[in-house]
Amino acid sequence: MEIFLDTVNLDEIALYEDFIDGVTTNPSLLAGINSNAVRELLQKICKSVSGPVSIEVISEKYEDMLVEGREIAKINNNVCVKLPCTFDGLRVCRKLSSEGISTNLTLCFSPTQALLAAACGATYISPFAGRLDDVGQDGMSLVEETVDIFDVQGCETRVLVASVRNVQHVIQAALCGADAITVPPAVLKQCFIHPLTDKGLEIFKKDWKKKMQQTRA
Ligand code: E4P
Repeated sequence: MEIFLDTVNLDEIALYEDFIDGVTTNPSLLAGINSNAVRELLQKICKSVSGPVSIEVISEKYEDMLVEGREIAKINNNVCVKLPCTFDGLRVCRKLSSEGISTNLTLCFSPTQALLAAACGATYISPFAGRLDDVGQDGMSLVEETVDIFDVQGCETRVLVASVRNVQHVIQAALCGADAITVPPAVLKQCFIHPLTDKGLEIFKKDWKKKMQQTRA
């Protein structure tokens, strides 16, 4: 399973570079940044990783989205143009895919949206697990259904689990065979941690110190 970092923070990307295959961004993550600096920051992010960097369009209409998507694709050769799972977004996906541009269809909340994204040649489809959990639905069920449907139908589009809120989402994504996941830095940090690892290290350190003292005595 590919692991992407869901951030626009270059320090976080550098910190986790040994563990990540790419980066995902979205308009909310870029919201606090001066608009003149955004393109430069996105270029730096693209250069900081060799794998895909998802960058989202702001436009909503077909023609505008198409122009914007092509512009975004020019930022670097590892850009994946992020498009919403709307009627227009899916049409733009079909067009950009035919031009050889990678796409990530975002804001996916149903298996039919995922199927249509695959039919339009999307590189990735991003089911939003956490936001479904937020409204009392089971977000990971959508991921599991999408993985199963793509298996049965032989779809090449990769299932990228998004809106990840906790380590359990990461484990469930891996278990059900998702192709990729995008993880916020705080959740990735949690993936490294287990109290018994820290406790075990302390015990080894203490025992080793005791042994060295005995050797010297
Ligand atoms: C990534 O592609 C998505 O934009 C992101 O995972 C959304 O996460 P959120 O629901 O926590 O905003």
